[in-house]
Amino acid sequence: MAEPGVLFRRVAVIGLGLIGGSLASAIRRGHLAEWVVGADQRGDDLTLGLKLGIIDEAAESVAAAVKGADLVVVAVPVRSTEEVLREIKPWLEEGALLTDVGSTKASFVDAVATVFGSCPVSVIPGHPIAGSEKSGITAANPDLFLGHKVILTPPEPVDPVLLRRLSNLWEGCGARVLTMSVAHHDEVLAATSHLPHLIAFSLVDTLAGEDENLDIFRYAAGGFRDFTRIAASDPVMWHDIFLSNQQAVLRVIDHFTHDLGLLRTAIAEQDSATMLRVFSRAKAARDHFSRMLSGKAYVTTTSEKQITFHLSPGGSVSGDIRVPGDKSISHRSIMLGALADGITEVKGFLEGEDSLATLQAFRDMGVTIEGPDNGHVRIHGAGVDGLQAPRGPLYLGNSGTAMRLFSGLLAPQRFDSELTGDASLTKRPMGRVADPLKSMGALITTAEGGRPPLKIKGGQKLRGIHYDMPVASAQVKSCLLLAGLYAEGTTSVTEPAPTRDHTERMLAGFGYEVRRDGATASVTGGGRLTATTIDVPADISSAAFFLVAASIAPGSDLTLRHVGMNPTRVGVINILRLMGASIEVLDEREVGGEPVADLRVRSSALQGIDIPLSDVPLAIDEFPVLFIAATCASGTTVLRGAEELRVKESDRIQVMADGLARLGVVTEVTEDGIVIKGAQKIGAGRVDSHGDHRIAMAFAVASLVSEGDIEVTDCANVATSFPGFVELAGGVGINIRTTGE
Ligand code: S3P
Repeated sequence: MAEPGVLFRRVAVIGLGLIGGSLASAIRRGHLAEWVVGADQRGDDLTLGLKLGIIDEAAESVAAAVKGADLVVVAVPVRSTEEVLREIKPWLEEGALLTDVGSTKASFVDAVATVFGSCPVSVIPGHPIAGSEKSGITAANPDLFLGHKVILTPPEPVDPVLLRRLSNLWEGCGARVLTMSVAHHDEVLAATSHLPHLIAFSLVDTLAGEDENLDIFRYAAGGFRDFTRIAASDPVMWHDIFLSNQQAVLRVIDHFTHDLGLLRTAIAEQDSATMLRVFSRAKAARDHFSRMLSGKAYVTTTSEKQITFHLSPGGSVSGDIRVPGDKSISHRSIMLGALADGITEVKGFLEGEDSLATLQAFRDMGVTIEGPDNGHVRIHGAGVDGLQAPRGPLYLGNSGTAMRLFSGLLAPQRFDSELTGDASLTKRPMGRVADPLKSMGALITTAEGGRPPLKIKGGQKLRGIHYDMPVASAQVKSCLLLAGLYAEGTTSVTEPAPTRDHTERMLAGFGYEVRRDGATASVTGGGRLTATTIDVPADISSAAFFLVAASIAPGSDLTLRHVGMNPTRVGVINILRLMGASIEVLDEREVGGEPVADLRVRSSALQGIDIPLSDVPLAIDEFPVLFIAATCASGTTVLRGAEELRVKESDRIQVMADGLARLGVVTEVTEDGIVIKGAQKIGAGRVDSHGDHRIAMAFAVASLVSEGDIEVTDCANVATSFPGFVELAGGVGINIRTTGE
């Protein structure tokens, strides 16, 4: 918890119920104010508050409490707000901050406007999302806000100093502070809190009125108990909340009853597709609930976890493993499966956050998707014309691939859409897809500098174009080919160097003709896709960490099973072999249009090389760990022509160079690459991965040959591409543990 020190001289808490009392006692315990004075109509509660040490002083009246206070907290029932504000007004000091803790915000702002004329800049409404079925001062608890959210709804403009002080106060009580507009707060709470309470009250009341009510309650199972716990909440308080947030509550009730009606019809008509779609979408949403923004059932937030890898040096790497499914192929399996006619079965699907974001986005667009269950996914294809408008922005987390491919796929749809992502994705360039799409006739706007969010206007007719890609990017190529499925005529893309061709291969697998002429791939719009089965190979980009690990750690012998060996992806093997690595390719075979093999890798002495330019796009994701190999090799390794690395999940050239520097390794960063003198010792130290999964895993591999312990921070995003990395790495011999989950 932060230690903000004394923030206010005198805090007046008006109303010493559960929330007011808990706040007063948290402020006192945290020494966040010099003096806390309470006022309450219920004299007994006031005396008790003083006796229990919840307040420093019991004021006889609101006036007495407010006089001289630099913070006044209104913590009375919503219906009494206006009356209390009238009592406060004559005594409120110039510049004092006025806030509240009520569950609805428009009603507080309206009451302030009625009493004060308008909402002054020194009024900042607040709502701690914390409570208990118990009420009153006896339930007051200074820990009530620990780990809970507090929403502040500052006016425009707001005094930034006051806002910071109020935020610090809540953080000092252990809460996390969010800010949003009053209207948004009330909409969100209507959906996430008010409606569930209403349904719980209504359901229990309905069942209590059924003839067999005694039996119903006697035999009610855990589900009923869980679902209706909140029906035991304070009736008067909830009566007030529903009336004070009337409009937002009515809107959400209408929405809910409409959807309930659809389910009723689906059950009556035995419409399994609708039922499965709704239930599986809800299950997925509930499973990911902890990562969701309150109120937006289909929007996941940035992972908030702070995970640190702790690595001890040494060890060799041995065993027989299969790394998770290929990320690029997993994304595409969902996309094409969703657009196909019929049911597509996928196995080996990567259950990482990136590909799950894609899966969720299609659920948001009405596609029924069962699973994933142990890598199995069943997609009930909606057909090329079957996607439905999502209810809100599609949140794509950390995934650049998803955002770029989606832009191509959504530009020709009938409906508008918006694509958003996490902080890292929000910094990545999208002009590279938006510009050529616009020349096909798409209407897309980006934020400044061509960054997300992308807003796509539906209902546009696209025309096929020919596009000479200025950068070798499979994402751009795939985006245009997907848009090309809907465009009039032919869309063709020429790449300056070969890039991964999973889109082309998979389109062919779904029966859609893709022509290839040298460096140019083209499709003609207007066709349909036929469902198929897809066996996703293990991701060579994930295998790369273990290829390097076993190469650099003496005494290693590791087998990696079922690794995707698409020729447009094997740059890492080419490069490591040029450096002298011992990698045997065994049992080469083809599954579902993609070559796969088992790889056996043993330790060997590596030498530095000039990395061939032609291998750069074929190993674009593997450079972080290849830099570790280069550090261990004898001689110098030079990488050129890799400026693309600077716009990945992080600036991978700089972030790797900085991390290596923290471990005592000297490198020379160039505009489009890096020069690494080999045979350098890797020391102990703390490295910041900048939330980049591949940087985090690369430094985990470095620990095998480091001279001391390595700590890598900000590693939660490893889950985007490699769930289970820590367990698998530990299992083969890397000394790794994590903290902070
Ligand atoms: C990917 C293409 C590559 C790669 C990314 C996945 C894809 O990006 O870095 O991890 O699935 O098409 P670029 O196309 O931007 O090079």
